[in-house]
Amino acid sequence: MLKYLLTIFILMTTVFAYAESCNYADCHTDITDLKKMHSPVKEGGCMDCHMIDDADIAKHEEDPEANKPFEFPVGEDENLCLMCHDPVEDMPVVHSPVGEGDCTTCHNPHGSDNEFMMPEATEAELCFYCHENDKMVKEYIHGPLAVGECTVCHSPHASGNPYQLKQPKEKLCLDCHTEKKGSMNVKFKHDPVLEDCTQCHDPHNSDYDMFLTSDLKDHCFDCHSDLGDMINSKEYKHAPVEYDGCSACHNVHGSENPFMLYEYFPETFYNDYEEGMYQLCFECHNVENIQNSTTDDGTGFRNGKENLHYFHVRLEGKGRSCKSCHEVHASSQPLHIRAKVPFGTGGWQLPINYTKTENGGSCVVGCHKPKTYDRENPIDYSK
Ligand code: HEC
Ligand code: HEC
Ligand code: HEC
Ligand code: HEC
Ligand code: HEC
Ligand code: HEC
Ligand code: HEC
Ligand code: HEC
Ligand code: HEC
Ligand code: HEC
Ligand code: HEC
Repeated sequence: MLKYLLTIFILMTTVFAYAESCNYADCHTDITDLKKMHSPVKEGGCMDCHMIDDADIAKHEEDPEANKPFEFPVGEDENLCLMCHDPVEDMPVVHSPVGEGDCTTCHNPHGSDNEFMMPEATEAELCFYCHENDKMVKEYIHGPLAVGECTVCHSPHASGNPYQLKQPKEKLCLDCHTEKKGSMNVKFKHDPVLEDCTQCHDPHNSDYDMFLTSDLKDHCFDCHSDLGDMINSKEYKHAPVEYDGCSACHNVHGSENPFMLYEYFPETFYNDYEEGMYQLCFECHNVENIQNSTTDDGTGFRNGKENLHYFHVRLEGKGRSCKSCHEVHASSQPLHIRAKVPFGTGGWQLPINYTKTENGGSCVVGCHKPKTYDRENPIDYSK
């Protein structure tokens, strides 16, 4: 279609360039001075658009001020530009001014000093003729907007996607942030990342770093509000939860480990102990904790020298996960000892009644008879 029109157009310009009697170059210097002239204008094809007959041209030349037939290029209900261009191309989502044929708000028909015959040097300035500028005013401005570009993401005319986006939302960001493509294929994915990055990131600008839709420190609770309420209601918060934030342990975009953790931590309550199984915790804690069956001061959880961490974590066939005794986020007891442990899949919670003592502690649990440990005066369980 465009090729066909172009052929006609070239023929027309050739004919009209000669037929034209108007020596516009001397008079219309505002047009001829433009750095980037519209192709038909450059070719001298004024009559391609200003379809006026010879008699009117003659009148204009006689007394240019009194006769200005140029002001009305074509009839009002015809769109001049569509004679040669088809920016919509049957696409379903059409930008309102384009649908209304208002091409000349965004393009000067003769050309301009700017790219694409725009009246402004940047696209952004153009867009803000009509749209409120709430997109480049906040503290953090997204890369493409910072340089005034909107059409890397939005078609100015029409597209197959909502908001005239050039790509479906789930692909748009990955065109540039190729390193995040991996997030789509990792073993443990985060639902919102698969659905739509803009649930967490503002595509334009934000008051928060990384263009987050809310402050990083509260951000996760926008959706995980139950966990947020739980953590906020507890007296003892695990230091990294309180001071570093959730990304101290979780990779919000997904990871190869359960719960999207940076390092491995098992999902199950009972485990056959293997090297590296609780790697996450030992990124920050003393691994001696579970290395030897006896210890002088490797852990406070010992009865005399017997390392009770070693004992519980490595019990053959039924080694306890750290989470069977410790709450990973926050707890109502010191040392993040849980009050209850989810047991099985039926929703039952096994209570742990833990009491800290000066040199140890005692617990009343469903796992065994009430037991006490003492670092100074070990309880003798051999009898
Ligand atoms: C691609 C179509 C097109 C071509 C080619 C074209 N014009 Fe125009 N011209 C227009 C349109 C559309 C308007 C109305 C602009 C508006 O109202 O914003 C216009 C308006 C004008 C006006 C009046 C307003 C103004 O900008 O001063 C003059 C004078 C004019 N054209 C001269 C010319 C001359 C001389 C040529 C050839 C060098 C030419 N035009 C080529 C489309 C064209
Ligand atoms: C007589 C045919 C014709 C008409 C009418 C016409 N154009 Fe064009 N236009 C062309 C040709 C030819 C080109 C250059 C070929 C190309 O780049 O596709 C062009 C290029 C353009 C470009 C790209 C400029 C660039 O820098 O790459 C824009 C924008 C444009 N036209 C807008 C318009 C608008 C707006 C109108 C209506 C006011 C219009 N055209 C009317 C023939 C026309
Ligand atoms: C809201 C502003 C806006 C409106 C309205 C608009 N355009 Fe554009 N147009 C642009 C911008 C910005 C570009 C250059 C950026 C791009 O496409 O990547 C452009 C590019 C173009 C181009 C050259 C590149 C291409 O896509 O072929 C043509 C031709 C064009 N427009 C024609 C038109 C016509 C015809 C109309 C009216 C039916 C129109 N435009 C309405 C903003 C607009
Ligand atoms: C001539 C005025 C005008 C200009 C210039 C303009 N727009 Fe629009 N735009 C509108 C109108 C009117 C609507 C439809 C009303 C609405 O939904 O806000 C719209 C809708 C949109 C939408 C869809 C909004 C939604 O909520 O569905 C996007 C995205 C958009 N424009 C982007 C742009 C971009 C990017 C630019 C610059 C390249 C631009 N606009 C320039 C008038 C304009
Ligand atoms: C990095 C890609 C990207 C860039 C660059 C971009 N946008 Fe958007 N824009 C989007 C996405 C994605 C949406 C849909 C937002 C949503 O669903 O919340 C959107 C929505 C919009 C909307 C409708 C909703 C709203 O927030 O008002 C407008 C209008 C808009 N953009 C204008 C612009 C303008 C103007 C620019 C340039 C100054 C621009 N955009 C640059 C991706 C982008
Ligand atoms: C046209 C390319 C482009 C597209 C599309 C794009 N971005 Fe960006 N983005 C950038 C650039 C450029 C930067 C700045 C790069 C830098 O600072 O390293 C950036 C930075 C970011 C940052 C901050 C990175 C950091 O380390 O500070 C985030 C978060 C981001 N983009 C998210 C998104 C999201 C979400 C989308 C989709 C809505 C998106 N981007 C689409 C180009 C793009
Ligand atoms: C559930 C919320 C959420 C979703 C959904 C999300 N992000 Fe993020 N993103 C974050 C947070 C939080 C950060 C801050 C860095 C951190 O804590 O690791 C971030 C940081 C980033 C960064 C900069 C730092 C880095 O990790 O490279 C980029 C780029 C980024 N995100 C791109 C994306 C893209 C692209 C998508 C969609 C595929 C996306 N994000 C989806 C929450 C999210
Ligand atoms: C836009 C909403 C949203 C935000 C923001 C969000 N998440 Fe999620 N998250 C979800 C949804 C939906 C799921 C999947 C359903 C579920 O398990 O609750 C999920 C699942 C998870 C899971 C896996 C749960 C499981 O049982 O396997 C973890 C871990 C997680 N999110 C951590 C985070 C962290 C950390 C942040 C902040 C950096 C965060 N989320 C921000 C919506 C969100
Ligand atoms: C010290 C490391 C660490 C930090 C910091 C951390 N988590 Fe977790 N998170 C874990 C571990 C380990 C699990 C698996 C625990 C389990 O199986 O119950 C988990 C599980 C989850 C789950 C899924 C199970 C559940 O309890 O709902 C969500 C959601 C979650 N974390 C969100 C968060 C949020 C939000 C933050 C920030 C407030 C955060 N995490 C901070 C280690 C951490
Ligand atoms: C990002 C580092 C980090 C990770 C990962 C981490 N912790 Fe912690 N944890 C800390 C810090 C810091 C403290 C506070 C230590 C202090 O106050 O002496 C702490 C305190 C504790 C305490 C209480 C100790 C005390 O002396 O108050 C327990 C129990 C604990 N963590 C268990 C765990 C478990 C179980 C895991 C694995 C699921 C884990 N931690 C992962 C940093 C971490
Ligand atoms: C059977 C319950 C139980 C299991 C399983 C358990 N802990 Fe503990 N842990 C405790 C008790 C009780 C204390 C308190 C010791 C004391 O009296 O100071 C403790 C204390 C700690 C402390 C504080 C420093 C220390 O060693 O005294 C850390 C850190 C810790 N545990 C990490 C872990 C990690 C990591 C795992 C999993 C590899 C784990 N725990 C498994 C019961 C348990």
